[in-house]
Amino acid sequence: MSKLQHLALLTSGGDAPGMNAAIRAVVRTANFHGIRTTGVVDGYDGLVKKNFVQLGPRDVRNIVQRGGTILRSARSEAFLKPEGREQAAANLREADIDALIIIGGGGSQSGAHALTAEQNVRVMGIASTIDNDLGGSDRTIGFDTACNTALEAIDRLRDTASSYGRIFFVEVMGRDSGFIAMHTGIAAGAEYVLVPERKENVDELIKALQERSSEKSSSIVVVAEGDQEGGAFKLAEVVKKNCPQFDIRVSVLGHLQRGGNPTMADRLLASRLGAAAVEGFMEGKQNCVVGIVKGEITYTPHVEAITQRKEIEPDLFRLIQMLAI
Ligand code: F6P
Repeated sequence: MSKLQHLALLTSGGDAPGMNAAIRAVVRTANFHGIRTTGVVDGYDGLVKKNFVQLGPRDVRNIVQRGGTILRSARSEAFLKPEGREQAAANLREADIDALIIIGGGGSQSGAHALTAEQNVRVMGIASTIDNDLGGSDRTIGFDTACNTALEAIDRLRDTASSYGRIFFVEVMGRDSGFIAMHTGIAAGAEYVLVPERKENVDELIKALQERSSEKSSSIVVVAEGDQEGGAFKLAEVVKKNCPQFDIRVSVLGHLQRGGNPTMADRLLASRLGAAAVEGFMEGKQNCVVGIVKGEITYTPHVEAITQRKEIEPDLFRLIQMLAI
């Protein structure tokens, strides 16, 4: 294996707070070890179009606290095709780049895996998605911030819900995964949480809301956008039909959960993973996702990280039931 002299770096898929902190950590760790870094603008699309910029340690100043990604993200039709990936690999070779770091979630890491399998590019993924659904890391970059943003919003909704005795259906992000819904639901003291991973009994939900309505000043039902009932509006409609006496409101938090300054936990995670990605390459690791499992830095083979479905902690389902009395 050739010595690592020149790295490329891109962010891909849904942006997540903390991606900038990871970019900074990669660039500065590489610089510390005398390795050059090239940033790829617009994710895989920029890789196919050779949209490259040189990144030195001063180019990443003042970004550790910023949400979004200075390298931008994009959907790339071209990269989904084998010819696009061939072009991407040719662009890396032409620029004398030895290895590529991909900061992103499941879809982005699948792209990285295809690039290795077909073009033999040395890749390393950094686990980053607000959905927290990528294998190979207990927490992914952005999850903590997104949960805190959702939590603050739900706390505010609780204030107004209690003033009117209302039931709020709050929809949070998570097309395929209910981590944000479950974690913020518990932290916000929600009465019910619905996630894509589990089919809920809506009759039971209605019964619980009815039984408790006389004792409660408000109720919050947190719904992940990909839940099996079709989202917060649909669910609210069903409940309203069965219980016309309820004063119901719906709030969809949407993309505001993707923005904002990363929390301390996300900045720290991103800084550790960025540094570990570079140093992992230096130790000869490649074609894996760098993450933190039980407090330790780990390198999980790409195939494993993208196929392994990360489950919501089973005790949380019981906890929400027990506490939402
Ligand atoms: O970042 C992941 C995610 O938040 C999903 O939960 C959500 O469905 C998706 O992004 C939406 O992303 P976009 O609007 O960029 O397609």
